[in-house]
Amino acid sequence: MRLVMVGSGYVGLVSGVCFADFGHDVVCVDKDPAKIARLKNGEVPIFEPGLDTMLEANMRAGRLSFTTDLTEAARDADAIFVAVGTPTRRGDGHADLTYVYEATREIAVLAAENAVIVTKSTVPVGTGDEVERILREVRPGANISVVSNPEFLREGAAIEDFKRPDRIVIGTDSDHARYVMTEIYRPLYINQGPLLFVSRRTSELIKYAANAFLAMKITFINEMADLCEKLDADVQDVARGIGLDNRIGAKFLHAGPGYGGSCFPKDTLALVKTAQDAKSPTRLIETVVEVNGRRKKRMAEKIIAACGGSVAGKRIAVLGLAFKPNTDDMRDAPSLDIIPALQAAGAEVIAYDPESMEQARQVLNVGFAEGPYDCIEGADALVIITEWNAFRALDLKRVKASLKSPVVVDLRNIYRPQEMKALGFTYHGIGRGA
Ligand SMILES: NC(=O)c1ccc[n+]([C@@H]2O[C@H](COP(=O)([O-])OP(=O)(O)OC[C@H]3O[C@@H](n4cnc5c(N)ncnc54)[C@H](O)[C@@H]3O)[C@@H](O)[C@H]2O)c1
Repeated sequence: MRLVMVGSGYVGLVSGVCFADFGHDVVCVDKDPAKIARLKNGEVPIFEPGLDTMLEANMRAGRLSFTTDLTEAARDADAIFVAVGTPTRRGDGHADLTYVYEATREIAVLAAENAVIVTKSTVPVGTGDEVERILREVRPGANISVVSNPEFLREGAAIEDFKRPDRIVIGTDSDHARYVMTEIYRPLYINQGPLLFVSRRTSELIKYAANAFLAMKITFINEMADLCEKLDADVQDVARGIGLDNRIGAKFLHAGPGYGGSCFPKDTLALVKTAQDAKSPTRLIETVVEVNGRRKKRMAEKIIAACGGSVAGKRIAVLGLAFKPNTDDMRDAPSLDIIPALQAAGAEVIAYDPESMEQARQVLNVGFAEGPYDCIEGADALVIITEWNAFRALDLKRVKASLKSPVVVDLRNIYRPQEMKALGFTYHGIGRGA
């Protein structure tokens, strides 16, 4: 199949590279010339484990190319995927669909007869209807279908998720589109990745419902963590104790500083807005959004309390800036709430992250260290915000010797309280007892 990805960011690029790896001919398009120039050189502009080698192999095999010009790419494509951003719209919390509709207008002019336009971006219910309306306006009478195919990959494990998905959701009522989508995903179908065909509107809602549910699960365990701190219980054990129940499941039960990232914050908010507009408010998710927002702000207070009630004039070492490990993505990362609040309280913050410092420099005004020990040297407290593997096995004796005072605030519970206390640290985890 000949495929085009419009938008070559985290989702478009991973999807394009993986589709090429299945054997399809793929052209990835982006309107950012700098991004395309790097990609043409075989350089991956984002950090995603395994993506560079797969990209290079598929470029060499002649199945994958990059361009800023949709014209040539779209001409004989069987399917054109839209994978552009859908950030929160300024002011009202709805998803901003400007990029989706702009891309639609460009595609509508160029798409071949019988092509399928596939929305991979996360879009509110009814967006496919509007895409179709634009298409009919620009190309009346053309035989082109509009399909919803939301993406569920996780940054940091994107290739594995794309190639071994729990399910592939496809929203269409067109037989031709169903055939094209089945052909595109045939390699996965053989790997037992179930294809779920539903209506387009249902498909759009499935994506938001999935993200809202996961955000709710995280928020639930975070509230249990707060309770554990009051009742002298351990949230890690509570998570294990409930997670072993198959009806609950162990995943997404890690207490932490609150969810962030490029999807959960904007998607929960967009779902709340959609539901309010539909006069069917999702009270549960409204509360999740509110509780999570407050939590991220409260984390700075927790750190200040751990430092004896004031961080004024103190040097705080922060390990981990990205919203989660194995990505360089800083969008809505908890560090963006925590660090400015510490600085506002008078702290000097020095930070280290294995991959996200280039991105972080654009949004944070902190000192950057060369490595974890360099970061910790002479600090009044160590704060772990992202649970990179590289931080899980620090030489704790060296850490203790480097810190001016042995205060550790571990917002990801990567260390054991008893061991840390035995080593002489004043250790503060999340929900690890009174
Ligand atoms: N990042 C994730 O983990 C993830 C997971 C699942 C779904 N999604 C959804 O996928 C969509 C894309 O997310 P992302 O993280 O890849 O975004 P991103 O910001 O990394 O990438 C979007 C890209 O689209 C390009 N673009 C915008 N308009 C264009 C146009 N008209 N023509 C060509 N290129 C254009 C931008 O230059 C940018 O490179 C969003 O709707 C998001 O919610 C993201």
